Amino acid sequence: MEENSRVLVIGASGRLGYHLAQYSLQFGSLDDEKSLIEAVKQVDVVICSIPSKQALDQKLLIKVIKESGCIKKFIPSEFGVDPDKIQIAELDNQFYSRKAEIRRLIEAEGIPYTYICCNLFMSYLLPWLAQPGLKSPPRDKVTIFGDGNTKAVFVKDVDVAACAISAIDDPRTLNKTLYLRPPGNACSMNQLVAMWEDKIGKKLEKIYVQEEELLQRIKESSYPENMEMIFIYSAFVKGSYVL
Ligand SMILES: NC(=O)c1ccc[n+]([C@@H]2O[C@H](COP(=O)([O-])OP(=O)(O)OC[C@H]3O[C@@H](n4cnc5c(N)ncnc54)[C@H](OP(=O)(O)O)[C@@H]3O)[C@@H](O)[C@H]2O)c1
Repeated sequence: MEENSRVLVIGASGRLGYHLAQYSLQFGSLDDEKSLIEAVKQVDVVICSIPSKQALDQKLLIKVIKESGCIKKFIPSEFGVDPDKIQIAELDNQFYSRKAEIRRLIEAEGIPYTYICCNLFMSYLLPWLAQPGLKSPPRDKVTIFGDGNTKAVFVKDVDVAACAISAIDDPRTLNKTLYLRPPGNACSMNQLVAMWEDKIGKKLEKIYVQEEELLQRIKESSYPENMEMIFIYSAFVKGSYVL
C-alpha cells in the first residue's frame, strides 16, 4: 500500500473485516449517513466487508462515495464467486443478485472499483470437512456430495485480506475483477477426505449424496439454514468455486 493511502474498512469486526482492519486505521458504520460522510472524507480508499444479507446497505455508502468525489478505489463486499457468473442464482436466496446489483450501481456512478473474487475462505466449510451440522471433521462416516471429484479453491482469510490491500494501489486492478485461484489451493472432496484420513490414520465410511438428493434436501430446508448446503452444492457439485 502506498504510504499516503488512507483506508476505511466497513465491517471491521467481522470474519474478513478483522484481517482487513490489521492494515487500516479508519473503521466505519453504514448506520448513520452523517458519520459516514465524515469517515469517507478522511480517506481515499473504502473496503466493505459486511455480510451478503446486508449487501444492499452499501447503496448509502455508494451515494456518499460518489458525492465525496475523493475515493480512488472502492472494494465492495463480495469476496466469493463472481456474482455475474454464478450458476445457482435461482437457489441462493438473492445471495449473489444483491452483490450483482451493487456492482451495477458502482459502475453506473463511475466509482473506481476492484471486485475481489476469492473463492472459498479456508475458515468456511473446511474446518468441518463440508459436513452440514458438524463443527469439526467426522471420525467415522463422511458424506461426499456428487462423485467427490469436483474441485473448489480455498484461500486463507488473511491472504484474501492481504490481496485486497495489495489491490489498492495496483493499477492493473482498476475497474477490474481480481480472481484468487492459486492452482495448489484447488481441492476435491475426495482429496480433502483422503488428507483427513491420512491425518487421523483411519479410513472413514463414505456415504454418497448425489445431485438430485442434495437439491431435494436444500428445498426441504429453510433459509438461512440451507445456505451451507447451497454453497456445498455450488462448490462440490457445480464446480463454481474454481473461477
Ligand atoms: N468466500 C467465502 O468462503 C466467504 C465466507 C464468508 C463470508 N464471505 C463474504 O465475505 C464478506 C464478509 O463476510 P464476513 O463473514 O466477514 O462477515 P461477518 O463476519 O458477518 O462480519 C460482518 C461485519 O459487518 C458489520 N456490519 C453488518 N452490518 C453492518 C452495517 N449495516 N454497517 C456497518 N457494519 C455492518 C458487522 O458488524 P456487527 O458485528 O457490529 O454487526 C461485522 O463487523 C461477505 O461479502 C461474505 O459474503 C465469503
